[in-house]
Amino acid sequence: MTAWHASVLTLFPEMFPGPLGFSLAGRALREGRWRLEAIDIRAFATDRHRSVDDAPFGGGAGMVLRPDVVDAAVAAALAGGDPARPLIYLTPRGALLDQAMVRELAAGPGCILLCGRYEGVDQRVIEARGMREVSIGDYVLSGGEPAALALLDACVRLLPGVMGEAASAEEESHAAGLLEYPHYTRPAEWQGRRVPEVLLSGHHAEVARWRRAEAERITRERRPDLWAKRAAGGGATAAPDCHGRAEPPKRDARKDHER
Ligand SMILES: C[S@@+](CC[C@H](N)C(=O)[O-])C[C@H]1O[C@@H](n2cnc3c(N)ncnc32)[C@H](O)[C@@H]1O
Repeated sequence: MTAWHASVLTLFPEMFPGPLGFSLAGRALREGRWRLEAIDIRAFATDRHRSVDDAPFGGGAGMVLRPDVVDAAVAAALAGGDPARPLIYLTPRGALLDQAMVRELAAGPGCILLCGRYEGVDQRVIEARGMREVSIGDYVLSGGEPAALALLDACVRLLPGVMGEAASAEEESHAAGLLEYPHYTRPAEWQGRRVPEVLLSGHHAEVARWRRAEAERITRERRPDLWAKRAAGGGATAAPDCHGRAEPPKRDARKDHER
């Protein structure tokens, strides 16, 4: 089987693998479970100054990455791997990255990620190449590289054989539209704070009930948006049961009433 393949188009190829060379992702990279190549956008500049950007038409601050240079870098990435890999431009204007998108990307052949810098990338190459625009959050980074690292980290840990215990992916935050319950380890008492008694009881069903209730409480308190989506039975927001297996999505109470 061919390894999941990530190509990152960047002006700073030396930033990769960076943190992805460590821990789970680093080991998986060394084991060949995924492949990473950083493609230097500047290598596709054609003038003698090797310029990759220019001033924006219409005026304004900052510089814009040129479409011809970016396009040539994209062509090289496509030629060097499965052309079916999604081509993603990381941008604060994109669709918010969530666990459903991560799962979808991890299940595919890999991805090609374009990291912007300065004011961003000329719109024409984004459109001409049909790029999917993805944001990692409602804030502005100085470049797409930290966003690419975050997206790749999230995908790689879901690849087969990367995480030790498959169950941990099923139970963790966002796996089923809930944030995760709190964790505790030894010592059972620390600075006068006791671990919740139920966790010491050895009663698996009680532990599972407590974890489920905590996951629901935390989601309700911290992320009313997720909670509302779950209550509305929104798509992939099924709740995990006590073993992390997903139940079918909850039905919308109003629709039930109408039936
Ligand atoms: C300074 S930002 C450009 C911001 C752009 N002028 C705007 O207001 O939308 C430079 C680059 O960082 C990356 N970037 C910044 N914030 C990001 C985010 N939240 N998610 C993904 N990429 C981001 C993008 O690749 C972007 O082209």
